[in-house]
Amino acid sequence: MDLYQSIKLIHLASVVLSISGFILRGYWMMIESPLLQAKPVKILPHIIDTCLLASALVMVYMSAQYPFVQSWLTIKVFALVAYIILGTIALKRGKTRQVRIIAWVLSVLVFAYIVVVALSRAPLIIT
Ligand code: HEM
Repeated sequence: MDLYQSIKLIHLASVVLSISGFILRGYWMMIESPLLQAKPVKILPHIIDTCLLASALVMVYMSAQYPFVQSWLTIKVFALVAYIILGTIALKRGKTRQVRIIAWVLSVLVFAYIVVVALSRAPLIIT
């Protein structure tokens, strides 16, 4: 396996860990579990998401396919920002449980959209 493939594997592993952790934290949010406030639960997602983004940036550099040049990468960046904002509403900033659950569902849908865009390399919207 060459370096690019290894970096892609790190990216994919981070993707799986990121969404699994987000779904678990969403469940803890819904049942109002104190586990959501545990220190490792707060720190680990930052480490995973840093790996996800760092691997993405290395692949962007190595493949010379850049956001704002390749539309599927541009969409990934914007959708990632949407996922982060919705995610913080879902797990932290949402004032009521209902708002947090709606934001959580939307976050998971945005994440699924990012995966579809990544696999198809097409933004799936009219540009
Ligand atoms: C939550 C965020 C993200 C998810 C869920 C995600 C998901 C994926 C998936 C599933 C693949 C594999 C595609 C394949 O097998 O062909 C992939 C590859 C890739 N992603 Fe991401 N990604 C995310 C964020 C990003 C960001 C922000 C960037 C850069 C702007 C990025 C850049 C890339 C690149 C360059 C590849 C390699 C494509 C290739 O050479 O095959 N990703 N991503």
